[in-house]
Amino acid sequence: MSDRSVSDRADALVLFGATGDLARKKLFPALFHLAENGELDMPVVGVARSDWDDEQLREYAAEAVRHSVGRVSKKRLATFVERLRYVQGDYGELATHKALAEILAERALPVIYLAIPPSIFPTVVQGLQKVGLAERGRVVVEKPFGRDRSSAQDLNACLSSAFDQDAIFRIDHYLGKESVEGLLAFRFANTLLEPIWNRRYVANVQVTFAESFGTEGRAGFFDDVGTVRDVVQNHLLQTVALLAMEPPISDTADAYRDEEVRVLRQVEPMDPASTVVGQYVGYLDEDGVKPESTTETFVATRLFVDSWRWAGVPFYLRAGKYLPGSATEAVIELHRPPRLLFAGQRAGVPEANRLHLRLGHGDGVTLSMQAKVPGPDMVTQEVALDVDFEDALGLRREAYERLLRDAIVGLRHRFAREDTIDEEWRIVDPILERDDRPRPYYKGTWGPEGVDGIAGGHWHTVSLKK
Ligand code: BG6
Repeated sequence: MSDRSVSDRADALVLFGATGDLARKKLFPALFHLAENGELDMPVVGVARSDWDDEQLREYAAEAVRHSVGRVSKKRLATFVERLRYVQGDYGELATHKALAEILAERALPVIYLAIPPSIFPTVVQGLQKVGLAERGRVVVEKPFGRDRSSAQDLNACLSSAFDQDAIFRIDHYLGKESVEGLLAFRFANTLLEPIWNRRYVANVQVTFAESFGTEGRAGFFDDVGTVRDVVQNHLLQTVALLAMEPPISDTADAYRDEEVRVLRQVEPMDPASTVVGQYVGYLDEDGVKPESTTETFVATRLFVDSWRWAGVPFYLRAGKYLPGSATEAVIELHRPPRLLFAGQRAGVPEANRLHLRLGHGDGVTLSMQAKVPGPDMVTQEVALDVDFEDALGLRREAYERLLRDAIVGLRHRFAREDTIDEEWRIVDPILERDDRPRPYYKGTWGPEGVDGIAGGHWHTVSLKK
């Protein structure tokens, strides 16, 4: 996809929240790969409250890289970490921002990454503005972008008052995943699909986001957020948009975003009556979880896209922690054949064809079809046509690596636009505030009672990483 708004290359990278979980798990490993590819020719300045110095940040980053990449020579690690500097301070103190500005005095275009809780964004933005960094910097903001539609609008106003619109990069790392971006190629580079990609042929669409683990030391963050804000408002709705949108009118970033927002506008708001939220048993005992917390760790819901193409086709979404395995998968179920010529009395009705699009581990595509069972009778059985993209296409870069590189060079098409985020909040807003407690479910199960009813009684089996 081309992007005419490519602007200058950044000459420094700042990480607010450098001692945090995201930096350790995703950002430092991604920066290491960029550095190894010669794409990180700039200082990296970490900012956080912990009472650390440059050396401690370097050791932390080195450990993060070792943990993610495996064995790395001391020389390679040293070359990577020597560019790291650390600024210690409270995000609300002007002195912190002044110290940062001093380090960046010679730098014309810093990328400033806010890997911090959304509630602190306004404080940091004000600080950056006061020391003059906002006017010459690019800001990258992590999701969730706000807590609901109205707070997201406030946050946009706050960012826009300090940064140019073109300098605001809103992260939804699913947009940086090769597998998710690949949905566009899959749909629009294959004429085979277009004739069936509509309500005449598609019976329903199911999107599953499952994790076999819980909050993994992030309970403090997660308890404030919950599954709907953490992954449904952003990752799942982006996936729905890519599955449901019309072909963009050109290959520019804006043409693509225009189509995405157009289809989101046609999505009806989520209805609490066709939504089930759950909380795994044991969640309330975790460190960082508020007593009696009603935060959901699971949600299943039904959506309708009120468009010419999709009217009447249910989109079933489910997402949760501590499910039987990990998977991100979309399943497109087609209608069954109109006349059952082959099933025979004994075999019953053949299963409908399904297209499974794996977007997480082992990404690829499986098309389930019916084939004749050898023997005298005309009976069919399901067979799978399967492609694993890693086998077929080779290794891909991690989402965060691609997104950081894009932010450095000023490429905007893998970042979410303000209007997209606004529509996403409009869709989830009705299910954010609830009076009732989430329904309990046991770890390792597919969520609480009532979940099957959301998908008309039947969620498809997805391909799980245990
Ligand atoms: C993040 C969420 O955005 O996405 C996490 O905050 C979740 O809770 C993660 O685990 C999943 O990302 P991925 O790339 O592993 O599917």
